[in-house]
Amino acid sequence: MLKPFSPSDARRLREFLQEAGYTDEEFRKRPALMDLPSRRAGNWPYLLDYTSDPRTLNVLLRLFLFGMRLERPAVAGLISPPVLDLMTGSGMLAPDMDGLVPSVMLTPLDQNWFAADPLWRMESEQSSDTVLWANQTTRVLNLFSIRRPSRSTLDLGAGCGVLSVLASKHSERVAATDLNPRSAEFTLFNARLNEVENIESYTGDTFDPVQDRTFDLVLANPPFFVTPTSSRLYCENAMELDDYCRRVVREGARHLNEDGYLQMTLEWVQTSGQSWQDRLAGWLDGTGCDAWILRGYAREAGEYAHERNKDAYAVNPERATQKFHECLDYYRARGVEQVCGGVLAMRRRSGKNWLRMEEVPLDVGEPVGDSVLEVFATQTVLSAYSSDEQLLSLRPRLAASAVLEQQFRPGEGKWTLASRQLRLSQGLPAFLAVESQVAEFLAGCDGSLTLGELAQQLAARVKAPPENVRQQCCAVVRKLAERRVIAL
Ligand SMILES: C[S@@+](CC[C@H](N)C(=O)[O-])C[C@H]1O[C@@H](n2cnc3c(N)ncnc32)[C@H](O)[C@@H]1O
Repeated sequence: MLKPFSPSDARRLREFLQEAGYTDEEFRKRPALMDLPSRRAGNWPYLLDYTSDPRTLNVLLRLFLFGMRLERPAVAGLISPPVLDLMTGSGMLAPDMDGLVPSVMLTPLDQNWFAADPLWRMESEQSSDTVLWANQTTRVLNLFSIRRPSRSTLDLGAGCGVLSVLASKHSERVAATDLNPRSAEFTLFNARLNEVENIESYTGDTFDPVQDRTFDLVLANPPFFVTPTSSRLYCENAMELDDYCRRVVREGARHLNEDGYLQMTLEWVQTSGQSWQDRLAGWLDGTGCDAWILRGYAREAGEYAHERNKDAYAVNPERATQKFHECLDYYRARGVEQVCGGVLAMRRRSGKNWLRMEEVPLDVGEPVGDSVLEVFATQTVLSAYSSDEQLLSLRPRLAASAVLEQQFRPGEGKWTLASRQLRLSQGLPAFLAVESQVAEFLAGCDGSLTLGELAQQLAARVKAPPENVRQQCCAVVRKLAERRVIAL
C-alpha cells in the first residue's frame, strides 16, 4: 500500500531525483533506456553493464526503472538515509531481508514523476490489473493534448494518473476515473508527489462515475487493443473488435460542454469492402461534434496479430503461437483486413459539424495542442465559407513556422532546380511541393489583404484573366488551409 507524501517530503524526493539526473531530459540522451529490459528485447545483459558503475543514477535506474531487488550495501552511500527513509516509508521500496525490493516503477515526464506498477508485476500472475506506467501512447496523447484553461477535465482510464497530473496545471478540477480500483491509489500518490491538489479519483466503468457531468476537456487513452481476449485491463476490453473506442466516442460526446474537446488514442478495424475512414464516419455521425482523426499507422491483420503476441513468444512459444492463431481467426471471421491506430480530437459545437481524417505521423516530438486548436478554427471557417465569394472576403495568413526549401542538382555545368517544398518547422508536420508562383503568392498572405485583393494583384502581375486567377487562388488557399500552412 502506497502512503502519499507530505508537500515537504515530496519536494525533497523530487529534488533528489532531479539532482541525480533521474529526469526526462537525461533519459532522452540515453538510447539504452528507450527499451525496458525484457526477454524479447534481450537487453538485460546490456542494461546491467550500462548501469554497473556505482552511481546514484544507476542505483535509481536499477530500482525504479528495471524493478530490480538490490542488496542494501549497493544502495547505501548512494541514496542518503533520509531519502531512503522516504522511499521505504511511502512504500516505494519494501525491505526484504538484507535487500530492498521496489514496489513501483518511477517514470519522469515533463518535470513530474509518476509511480506505477513495477515491471516484474506485469510479468507475474497478478498482471491483469497492472497499473501501467507512462508509456508511448501516454506520451502521444500528452503531446497532442490541448493546454488551454479548462474548468473541468476528465481523465478517462486514468491508470496512475499521468494525464490527470499534467492536465491539472491548466484545469480548475480534474476527475480521474478508472475501472481498476488500484488506479485511485496511484493517482493520489502521484498527485501528492507532484504537489497537485485538484484531482478527484473515482472507480467505475467508463463514464459511469461521472454520469451527470460535462467537461471542457476529456482525455482518454483507453484499453484499445483489438484482441479476442480481455484479461489485461490496461490494454484490452471485453467488447467486440473496436466497439469500446466507439463507445468512448459516442458517450464522450454527451459529456462535453459546448466548445469542449475530447482527445483520445484509439485503434479501429478496416473490414473488407470498407475504406479506413468509413467506419469512423459512422461513429461520429449525429454526435453534435466536429472531429479530426489522425491515422498514425495501419497493420495488416497478420502483422497486427504478430505485434500483439510477439512479447509472449520469448516466454512461451507454444502458447504465443496458439494465441497468434486465435487472434488471426478472430479477425478473419469478421472480415478484418487492417487494424489502424491514431489520435482523435472532437469538439462539441452547435451547427453543421465537419469531420476530417488524414494520415499524420504520431511521433511529433513536441507539444502540438496549439496546432490542434488551429486546425479546428480553420476547418470551421472553411466549412462555413464554402463558396469562393465568401472565401475571397477572408484575410489568409501564412503560418509563422512555414519554411520554403529549394534543392538544386548539378548538371551540364550549372545548378538546376530539382524541387521546391513548403514545410512547417514547428507543430504538426506538413510538407508539400509548390510552384514558384504559388510560393510568391503565399509570401503576400500576411493577414493584411483579403484573398480577393491578393488575387487581383496577382492577376495584374501575371496578366491573366482575373476570374481564372480568383478561382485558382481559392483552390490553393483551401488546400493549404487544410494542410495547416495557411490560417484563415
Ligand atoms: C492504456 S491504459 C492508460 C492509462 C493512463 N491514462 C495513461 O495514459 O498512461 C488504459 C486504462 O484504462 C483503464 N480501463 C480499462 N477498462 C476500463 C473501463 N471499462 N472503464 C474505465 N477505465 C478502464 C485501465 O485500467 C487502464 O488504467
